[in-house]
This record gives sequence, structure tokens and C-alpha cells, in this order.
Amino acid sequence: MEAAEKEEISVEDEAVDKNIFRDCNKIAFYRRQKQWLSKKSTYQALLDSVTTDEDSTRFQIINEASKVTLLAEIYGIEGNIFRLKINEETPLKPRFEVPDVLTSKPSTVRLISCSGDTGSLILADGKGGLKCHITANPFKVDLVSEEEVVISINSLGQLYFEHLQILHKQRAAKENEEAASVDTSQENQEDLGLWEEKFGKFVDIKANGPSSIGLDFSLHGFEHLYGIPQHAESHQLKNTGDEDAYRLYNLDVYGYQIFDKMGIYGSVPYLLAHKLGRTIGIFWLNASETLVEINTEPAVEYTLSQMGPVAAKQKVRSRTHVHWMSESGIIDVFLLTGPTPSDVFRQYSHLTGTQAMPPLFSLGYHQCRWNYEDEQDVKAVDTGFDEHDIPYDAMWLDIEHTEGKRYFTWDKKRFPNPKRMQELLRSKKRKLVVISDPHIKIDPDYSVYVKAKDQGFFVKNQEGEDFEGVCWPGLSSYLDFTNPKVREWYSSLFAFPVYQGSTDILFLWNDMNEPSVFRGPEQTMQKNAIHHGNWEHRELHNIYEGLIQRSKGKERPFVLTRSFFAGSQKYGAVWTGDNTAEWSYLKISIPMLLTLSITGISFCGADVGGFIGNPETELLVRWYQAGAYQPFFRGHATMNTKRREPWLFGKEHTRLIREAIRERYGLLPYWYSLFYYAHVASQPVMRPLWVEFPDELKTFDMEDEYMLGSALLVHPVTEPKATTVDVFLPGSNEVWYDCKTFAHWEGGCTVKIPVALDTIPVFQRGGSVVPIKTTVGKSTGWMTESSYGLRVALSTKGSSVGELYLDDGHSFQYLHQKQFLHRKFSFCSSVLINSSADQRGHYPSKCVVEQILVLGLRKEPSFVTTHSSDGKDQPVAFTYCAKTSSLTLEKLSLNIATDWEVHII
Ligand code: NOJ
Repeated sequence: MEAAEKEEISVEDEAVDKNIFRDCNKIAFYRRQKQWLSKKSTYQALLDSVTTDEDSTRFQIINEASKVTLLAEIYGIEGNIFRLKINEETPLKPRFEVPDVLTSKPSTVRLISCSGDTGSLILADGKGGLKCHITANPFKVDLVSEEEVVISINSLGQLYFEHLQILHKQRAAKENEEAASVDTSQENQEDLGLWEEKFGKFVDIKANGPSSIGLDFSLHGFEHLYGIPQHAESHQLKNTGDEDAYRLYNLDVYGYQIFDKMGIYGSVPYLLAHKLGRTIGIFWLNASETLVEINTEPAVEYTLSQMGPVAAKQKVRSRTHVHWMSESGIIDVFLLTGPTPSDVFRQYSHLTGTQAMPPLFSLGYHQCRWNYEDEQDVKAVDTGFDEHDIPYDAMWLDIEHTEGKRYFTWDKKRFPNPKRMQELLRSKKRKLVVISDPHIKIDPDYSVYVKAKDQGFFVKNQEGEDFEGVCWPGLSSYLDFTNPKVREWYSSLFAFPVYQGSTDILFLWNDMNEPSVFRGPEQTMQKNAIHHGNWEHRELHNIYEGLIQRSKGKERPFVLTRSFFAGSQKYGAVWTGDNTAEWSYLKISIPMLLTLSITGISFCGADVGGFIGNPETELLVRWYQAGAYQPFFRGHATMNTKRREPWLFGKEHTRLIREAIRERYGLLPYWYSLFYYAHVASQPVMRPLWVEFPDELKTFDMEDEYMLGSALLVHPVTEPKATTVDVFLPGSNEVWYDCKTFAHWEGGCTVKIPVALDTIPVFQRGGSVVPIKTTVGKSTGWMTESSYGLRVALSTKGSSVGELYLDDGHSFQYLHQKQFLHRKFSFCSSVLINSSADQRGHYPSKCVVEQILVLGLRKEPSFVTTHSSDGKDQPVAFTYCAKTSSLTLEKLSLNIATDWEVHII
């Protein structure tokens, strides 16, 4: 759709036109796999072909019908990971293997081959805990941990591999048709789309013919699966049956439907499965269109009638079958064996990297709209925040800020002096984020276009010319980010002298990078477009996103991207695209973000208020309240919507929105510490309850509430006119405190919490210490010096622990010069201790802890003293509230960076 067309769309006619997009049955490789698999042709492993080297164990597999050999390689990877690769032994030409995703060559551990029975091979990881049991005929792999089969591969015989072939016409000419690996009788059946696939008016001519792959995994004892974003679906993956599948294909779906398995903007081909006692992950490293079927077989107990009564009961564990199918590439799969959720997070980030440490400003509130019209508009909105005493950190400009959608330029009438505008924002300690899409307007007078064209930096069409498609600027060509030279050149465009009008407070927003091609097949690029290295677009579609890294030097960059793939967390933040201003979209933002979070992408958010349409005021308020507790917090709206800056809905609603945003700012020390933890220790910031309470069955499908780190439980209000919400407080040994009223409950029960329009149900877990800022400024930049508070929530045993991470908030000095502070707070036997959590770090902070709140203190103390590291003791005034069992210490002046103790006697 072009801008004008898109403008005409109103909310009423917003249902996604399903005819533009394909469902499984319109996807040829899906139909082919289904048809072939129904024939039950098996593969056999040739175990006499086994060879072993330092890294891997290899052997051949052969299909009984086609007789074409595949080569399987099994690797043990450090950290209890197994990797299985299957490729053709002698493909006609190399098949695509996904580059750039693995952080480095994974360090392997040598697998020792233990003898199996005849017809099987056992590989062990040396420590003896994990074993890989390979059965020759039919080919099957069982992953065994402590004598229990955890995952079986190909136990349903769904291994599928289309061997590259010579185009049948050429082959006929060569008279060697019998060498064809795919049943040749299929070739006349056009609907199998072997060499040509039609969809509406589009014809996909496949130069390499059919090349799809597939494999099944049976997860024993597992009924709860999560991951494989991005879908507007529930957090727990649903059974798909045999005629539907989760689709991973990056697409621009304006106003996507909810509860739908169609692929939207990004893909991470990685799922997690959880059961009592074990969490595992499967990472399917393939960037072509991928479909995933999920089917759970519940546990069954049956009686064998011919046996005696005692031996008669047989129990079969439940299991879930996961069937991956990809259009192209090779089978390259990593099995992450856990056993805990945090182990799986670590294992995945060992492969793909951790969340980039965001600059502090980016955790504040962002104000966006398509579009802020001109410099005056920006100034007025910026002033509006100050006048209404609402903090915010970044103003965003959408595509209209450019000269005719030529990115890296400014519309001279609307933004005659972009530097002046940025200086204004800088004076308020705020930032500017501008959009930059990957399509480049075809215009011989546009220098970016000319340079990219001259250097051959665009994706090519079948004829070898620059691919042309329509997007916002009209006819455009698309940068080929798979070419490292293009990435390098593109990064150079952001250098200050090159990007005229940009300053160091300008950051970036990458949009439309699925890539979005209006009027293209499914609004994207033809699959037979050609990339660097002569690879077809089909091979790498899901990885096209092309994130850039502006700052190679001192400063941490901030980039928001709509499209993403496994590993995108290394570069920045992701948002959930064009959602709608309806309650159901507010609600689904939670499971969508939880799914992103557990697949490595901690820095994620949804457009606050809903991008499309006009939210009713109550919805807008509730959305701000929810967004304040989601990692990336940005208000955004499409162009035909009414203005909705936070102060446009009456005094009372302005107050409510202000309060929500201020709550966010107050909690920034906690957020920042959580991001540090995500960055260094791979743990998601926003966590589904099952991650924190893996032994509590009831949490496994919860998605209306979640944890922020391990200390806060958030249950946003997502229903109109709500007067109560039912909040499940997990953990039978836990105690939970309402963050506002300080009321407390024992864990393991559901409580009905009364809610007014100003209530955001947030609960602190007993046993935690949460650092906050006691005063909130105009933006994060105004809060550097402001004081800290500690919220100490005691466990049932009367103790708690927590941490604080801080640094300069913007540079890489924390990494290179170890300029950071990592403090630990622990409360035990009525003493709160501030000590160093990481001796390597130093940061000269003058900030003090000014306020300490202790929740759950059953007895009023007689006196309270502070004890500093130089041995000085000082009495402290306190207030105790018997009703809420809370103790408040105020007007303290305890330096955050030094060791001290507070004694409560
Ligand atoms: C699509 C994006 O999803 C939306 O956020 C943006 O406003 C428009 N493109 C215009 O750039």
C-alpha cells in the first residue's frame, strides 16, 4: 500500500485482507512435504560410514526410495548443547547456511563414542550426563539425560530433504532422468510448485527447483511449549493439528489479526519446552520460510488385559511432536538441554549473543507519531511535556521528516534547521530518533541512491538488474544488507559529517525491513530476487532486517527495528508493529512480549495506545499503565488518527498518564539493573511466571501477568471498566506485597484486587530489594544525581536480597574501563548491608540512598542506626506502621557507592 492508500484506511475497514497472504495450503513446499510423508518412505543411517574428528561425528543417511545420500554431523557444544547438521553429501551446488547469527564458531566438546548394539551408536559428552543414541534403521536420534529420553529426532519419520536437481527440461536433454531424487511423477503437477509456484498474479520461478527440508522432534513428557515469534498469539504455543502451522515468514501485516499463526514482521526459529524438572530449547537455524507444527499427545494409562493385575497398568508419558519445515537451506539444529530455564537462556545466548546494553535514555518514555509535522510541532509537543510535568526522553520523527522519503535527508520546509531542533532537545537532556527504511528511492539526484547503485549495493532481480519495488517513496531499490560491504557503507552514512543535520543525540528507527514491498507477493520481495553471493532471497528472507551499528566507538547506539531474526537482540530493540487501538491488542501485547523476551529479545514493546485507530480514553490510560511496565515504552499513532499527546484527555486523565510514566521513571534503577543482567547473564527482563516458578504447574500457561526480573509481579488491567482483577500470586513459601498499599498475601493463591482507574497492580516478592529513584526529572538525564530509595520486602524468613547496577548510562566505559558500580543489598537478622557485587567495577557516584522502606517487619523497632565503613554509627529517625508492618527511614544520606549497614534493633 502506498501512503495515500494507507491514509484512506479507517479502523472500520481494517480487517487484514487474508487474500494477500498465504495460509499453509497455499504454500507448495508444505503440500509437497505432506504428500511425500504420507508415503512413509524411511531414511537409514549407514553406521559403518561413521567418522569422528575433534569437532564432530559424521555419518551418511540414505533414503530407501531416492537412494541419495545425506551427510549427518553431530556436535557437542559447550554448555550442554547438541548440534545436528544434515546436508546433501554432494549437492549440485552449495546449499545456503545462515551466516552472521552465531556469535562465533561455537566451542565444541568432543563426543565419545560408546558402543551401541548392532545398528546403533551412542555418543556421550564425556561427563556422562548426556548421551546421543543413534538408531540406524529407521534413522532416529534420542537425546538421553540421566537415562531418560528427553528428545527424539525423526521418531515420526518426518525427515525430508529435497535434493537439488538439474531443471527437468535440461535433465531430459541429458537423458538421466532416473537420477532425480523427487518422485518425477510429481513434476507435472503444477500445484506442487517444484520449479514454478503461483500465488495470485505472482509467479515464483525457482532456478534451483525444490529444495525444502523438514524434521520432527518428539519432546517426552512436555506439554508446554513457547517461543517461535512473531505471531499475535498466546504465549503458550497451541496445537496446530495436521493442517495448520505456525508460520515464520517476515511480513508487513498492517493491523494484523490476533490469535493467528500467520507470520508477521520478524522470526526467531527457536522454541522452548518446559515440564516439571526440565526446560529445553530447539533452535532451528534456517532463514528461509519456515512452518512449525505442534501436536501434543497427552499421557495415557492403559491396562494390559492378558497380564496379572499388578503388572497390568502401563503408563505412557505425554509428549509433544514438533515438526519443522523450511523452504530451503540445510538442517542445522541446536538442542539446548537446560535443565533449568536460566540454563536454556544461557545456552541460547551462548550461540546468538545477549541483549545489547541499552543507553539509559532508551528505557525512558518515547513520544512518537506519524508524523510530528514540523519543527514547531516538535517544539510544542516537547514543551507540552514540561508544562504538564510529564517526563519523556525521546522525540521521534517518522518518514515525513525527509525530503520525499529520501532517508538521511530533511524536508527543508518542515525541518529547515534540524540541528537547532536537536539543540533544543539537547538543552532539555532529551534525544531525537528518526526513521530510516531499507528501501531507497530511485532518483538519479539522490546521492544515497546513486552511490548504492554505482557500487552494486542493491538486491538484484532475476535478470541481474537492480530489484525495483514500491514503498513509501514510490519506486525504490533495496539495499542488500547480506553483503558486508553494504553494511559497512550503510553504517558510514550515519557518520555526522555524512548525515547532514544529524548530531550525537540522534538515534535510529529501522522500519519496513521485512522487507516491505507494496504490491509485491504478500507485500514483500519476490523470492527469486538475488543477493550477494548469488543467493536467492528465499534462502534468507527472514534475516534481511539489516540492522546497523552506528557507533563503533565510544557511545552505545540505540536502534529500534520492526523486523528481526535470531540474534537481533545484539543490536537493539524490537516493537510489535502496527497494532490496533482496541482492548484485545493491549491484552495480547503481554504474551507477544513474553515470547520475544524468552527468545532472547528482552528490549521489546508495543505501540502504546495502539497504532491504528483512536483509543477511548480509558484504554489509552490503561495502555500507558501497562506500557510503563513493559521494556520498550513508546506512544505511537498512525497518521489519520486524532492527536493523543498525554495531556489531551482532560486533567484527571493527564494525571493518570503522568503517574504511570512517573512510576516508570522511579523504577529506572531496577530496569537498568535488569538490562545489565540480561546483557551479562542472558536472563530476560520480562519473564513469564513459569520461568520464575518452574515447579508450579499453574503458572505454565499464565499470560495476563508476568514478572519483571525476579522481584516484581505485574498484572496490567486490560479490561474496560474493571473494578477488580484476579491476581495469582505464586509460590507456597512466598509472600507478596502490594507496591502501593503494602498489603501482603502468602503465595500460592489467587486474590481479587480492587482496581480504580489509577491502579496498576504491581506486587513485590518477599525476599527482594528493589532500587528506585526518589525523585523524577524531566528525563533520565535530569536524574543522574537524584537520590535512591530501597524497597526491602522481607521473605517469610525475614530476609531479602537485591542488586543495583549503574554506570554513565551512555558509553562503553563500563566495558572497557570497568566504570560501573554493581552493588548488592542484603537484609538478614535485622541488618541491611550494602556491599559490592562486583569488585572489578568502579564508578564515582555521589548519589545517596535517601529512603529505605522495609515491608513485612512484624515488630516496631526500638531504634535504628546506620553503620558506615569508617566505623561511625548514627541513629536514624523512623516511622513504623503496625497496620502494614512497614518501616520507613527517610532523609538518609548513605552513599550508594560505599559499604554501609543499617541496623534495626
Ligand atoms: C510502518 C510502521 O510500523 C509504523 O510504525 C510507521 O509509522 C509507518 N510504517 C510509517 O513509517
